[in-house]
Amino acid sequence: MSSRPMKRILVTGSVGQIGSELVMELRKHYGNENVVATGHRTKPGDALRESGPFHFIRIQERQQLEGLVEQYDIDTIFNMAAILSAAGEKRPQLCWDVNMNGLINVLEVAREKELARVINPSSIAAFGPETPGKNTPNETILKPKTMYGVTKVAGELLGDYYFHRFGVDVRGMRLPGVISYKTLPGGGTTDYAVEIFYEAIKNKRYTCFLKEDTVLPMMYMPDTLKSFIDLANAPIEGLKHHCDFNVTAMSFSAGELAAEIKKYIPEFEVGYEPDFRQAIADSWPQSIDDSPAREEWGWSPDYNLSRMTKDMIEKLSERLLG
Ligand code: SER
Repeated sequence: MSSRPMKRILVTGSVGQIGSELVMELRKHYGNENVVATGHRTKPGDALRESGPFHFIRIQERQQLEGLVEQYDIDTIFNMAAILSAAGEKRPQLCWDVNMNGLINVLEVAREKELARVINPSSIAAFGPETPGKNTPNETILKPKTMYGVTKVAGELLGDYYFHRFGVDVRGMRLPGVISYKTLPGGGTTDYAVEIFYEAIKNKRYTCFLKEDTVLPMMYMPDTLKSFIDLANAPIEGLKHHCDFNVTAMSFSAGELAAEIKKYIPEFEVGYEPDFRQAIADSWPQSIDDSPAREEWGWSPDYNLSRMTKDMIEKLSERLLG
């Protein structure tokens, strides 16, 4: 089996934190008209809506997805629609419905229409308390305790199944917390690492919902976009894994992030009031071994904690303070 090039792309969940930037990045590479953005209910930003096609769909309705794939002659789907960890614990049935019924619709459309590629990201939420928490290997125990994690493990297995059983070229990586300044994340446990920048710049105070010494793996958005484009374009002959690549860029505690921000905003004050998300964070690894991604498709991130913080403060200050 050899990879077919991606030409006409559909992105689900395109109004979310990653999807909104991924669409703009893909439009740069593949042409505005060739990247169809879709969302559920949230209004897309002007840039997304005005630079190319946008449609509202419910991914649990297969015909809606199929209709757009036919209309635009789509050959690749990036499936970014998902209910994340914290939101998923509030509404576990909805989390299963969107994440799993959405995914199987994407995979079925890909099988029936013989699409060139499906990209379906997984997450560090695939891991659980029994997983080794430091330098977590790619091959390890996957017993998540959140519904989001359950859907991510099932999604990895389902994607691999579609590859081996039906020859659908499905790929995905286990993303850590993603930090960015354009679109806020929603409903995740790693969201604190974005909120903290907004509050530091706007109010010079932040109350963190995780404990000061909670360490989690993270990645800055430019690296995240790079990981999508690079994994999607990797020659299939080099891939031994498909839907379950570990990827990471940095690991830090909430306290270490606050200290890094204080280098730019010395008067910044942080308090810690852990809530239900602490237990989720405690069930996830602190650091990740991503050597298969490095070996099989050349993964290599550009941003560590200090470079990311400097860039976040500069870009977000410009956005928020003008
Ligand atoms: N950022 C996600 C979450 O916190 C992890 O994939 O749920």
